[in-house]
Parts: sequence; C-alpha cells; structure tokens
Amino acid sequence: MKLPAKVKIVDVGPRDGLQNEKEPVPAEIKIGLVHRLQDAGLKEIEVTSFVSPKWVPQMADAAEVMAGIARKPGVRYSVLTPNMKGFEAAVASRPDEIVVFGAASEAFSRRNINCSIAESIERFAPVVEAARAKGIYVRGAISVAVGCPYEGEVSPERVELVARLMKQIGVQHIGVADTIGVGTPVKVQRAMEAALKHYDLDDVSGHFHDTYGQALGNTLAALEMGVWQYDTSVAGLGGCPFAKGATGNVATEDVVYMLHGMDIETGIDLDKLIDAGKYVSDYLQRKPNSRAATAILNKRAA
Ligand code: HMG
Ligand code: MG
Repeated sequence: MKLPAKVKIVDVGPRDGLQNEKEPVPAEIKIGLVHRLQDAGLKEIEVTSFVSPKWVPQMADAAEVMAGIARKPGVRYSVLTPNMKGFEAAVASRPDEIVVFGAASEAFSRRNINCSIAESIERFAPVVEAARAKGIYVRGAISVAVGCPYEGEVSPERVELVARLMKQIGVQHIGVADTIGVGTPVKVQRAMEAALKHYDLDDVSGHFHDTYGQALGNTLAALEMGVWQYDTSVAGLGGCPFAKGATGNVATEDVVYMLHGMDIETGIDLDKLIDAGKYVSDYLQRKPNSRAATAILNKRAA
C-alpha cells in the first residue's frame, strides 16, 4: 500500500456529464456549473468537447461555454479534441489542456470516433504536435480499458498497446477509462499496471464510470497503487452516447468524502461541491446521483 497524501481531481461533469443529456443544457447553466466547481476548489475542470455537433449535439456550444467562463487563477480548463478540426476550433478558446481520446477495442474506436485504433493515432499525432508546440498540455484517454460494450472483456495487453502508441506520439498523460463501469478492483489494477508500463505514476489517472457500483472500490484499488489523479463527475452526471446504458462517472462528492475520511487532501470544500451538484441537478430536475451528497443534503434539511 502506497496511499498518496494528496489527490488531484479533474471534474469532468460539464463534459462527460452533460454530453449525455437528452435535452439540451443551455451554455449559461454549463458556465454556472464550472463557476461553482472552481469556487468549490476544483483545480481542473474538463469543460467541453470540440467534436462534431452531428455526433454530440450537447457539445455544440463548446466555444460559447469556454468564452463565458470567468477564469480563476490556478484552475486548468481542459477540452476534448479528437482531430485537427477540433483542435483548431479549440485553440481560440485557450484551453490549458487538451484530451485526445482513443480506445482499447477496435469496435469502440469505430463507434466513438469513426476510425480504427491505428487511424486514431494517425489523427492524434498532428494534434499532439500542434498542442505541444503551443505549450498546451496533452492528456490521452484510453476508453473501454477493462470492458467494451461491443467486444466484451478487454485484456491489459490492449491497454498497454494503446498506451505505448500514445506515448510514441508525445501524449503526456494517460487516463485509464472504464467507460461502461464493468471493472472490478483487480481488473482495474491490471489495466493501470499496463498503462504504467509506458507512463510514470505521476502521469496516469483513473476515469471510472459507476454503472455497476464499482467505481469507488476501483478508485480505492488504484489509490493503493499510488495513483493520485482521478476524473470524477459532480452529482455523478454522465455517460457516453456511444456506450448505451453506461451511467456517469463516480460522483466527485463520493470520492471527496472518501478521501477526506482517509486524511487525503484534495483542496476541495465538500459543502460547496455539494452546492455545485445541487445546482446542476436542480436544473436537470433530478437528485444528485451521489450517496454522500444525498446524505449531506438530508442532514441539512433535518
Ligand atoms: P467523422 O465523420 O469521421 O469526421 O467524425 P470527418 O473528418 O469525416 O468529417 C465529417 C464531418 O464532421 C465534416 O462535416 C467535418 O467538418 C465534421 P461536413 O463536411 O459533413 O459538414 N467534423 C467536425 N465538426 C466539428 N468538430 C470536429 C469535427 N471533425 C469533423 N472536431 C469525429 C470523426 C471524431 C469528429 C466524430 O466521430 C465525433 O465527433 N465523435 C464524437 C466522439 C465523442 O465526443 N464521444 C464522446 C466523448 S469520449 C468519451 O466520453 C469517453 C471518455 O469519457 C473516456 C471514457 O469514459 O471512456 C473520454
Ligand atoms: Mg467517460
């Protein structure tokens, strides 16, 4: 066990969370959510995606959302860019970090970004080069790192392959993503170990969807390996439109509650975070999908 003393959380709620909503969420609400997250102490927020509006209509307002944020010093704002077109559109909105997103299975790569794994690496290469030339940090995501909705179980060797390819083109950080939340702790550790063959511990993060209720356990399993960076989603929002039935990422509130209970620092104010989750949940007319938020909101009401 080498538990970290500090954890960095990237809240992906505005992007991963809201990309999956059926009804359009106005830019104003997305911006309001980003503001509340940064006020709660989040140091990185994944704001939006510069993807095809035909594929993901919810992210069609990417430029408007980025332009509307009153940036807070010390906070990093990241965006997804699957190709040069997306990157060029993103540059004008001055992201601190971009994310290229590949997959550990061929079928998911095709469904999500309409190309093979090899073609995706070819598309990412110029994006990575252009970003780095501008001093923009490049993160990579490996989707379906433990299981694929189309191919079933995914072996750690597949994760290792994509991690190696991403490393070769200059991707600086790799996120191991359980897109459909089927992973369990030991499988997630194996996927992490595969990524760690090509990336240092400081350059690897976990991105766990909670479809089967395993994401907090998976987070703990990765923490025990010393992994100290996680993508989480406020109010447990989200899912991927190309992975039907998958639910949101582990709720930021639940992860923060667990970490603080383990005396691990996050720099996040849990009460303000709960307010952020309530703000967006109220707009969506549902309760936050977070046990910790529910418990604390009930306590407040009592
Ligand atoms: P494509 O159709 O293969 O692209 O899509 P294309 O280059 O052949 O272009 C076709 C049309 O799309 C053209 O327009 C392009 O201009 C346009 P037309 O001439 O027909 O009018 N186009 C674009 N428009 C805006 N922005 C762009 C862009 N690129 C092309 N960047 C593409 C390829 C990747 C664009 C498409 O498949 C796409 O947008 N996919 C969406 C992928 C996505 O957003 N998925 C969800 C996010 S990933 C995720 O959730 C997983 C993650 O959370 C980790 C995990 O949990 O696993 C990160
Ligand atoms: Mg995701």
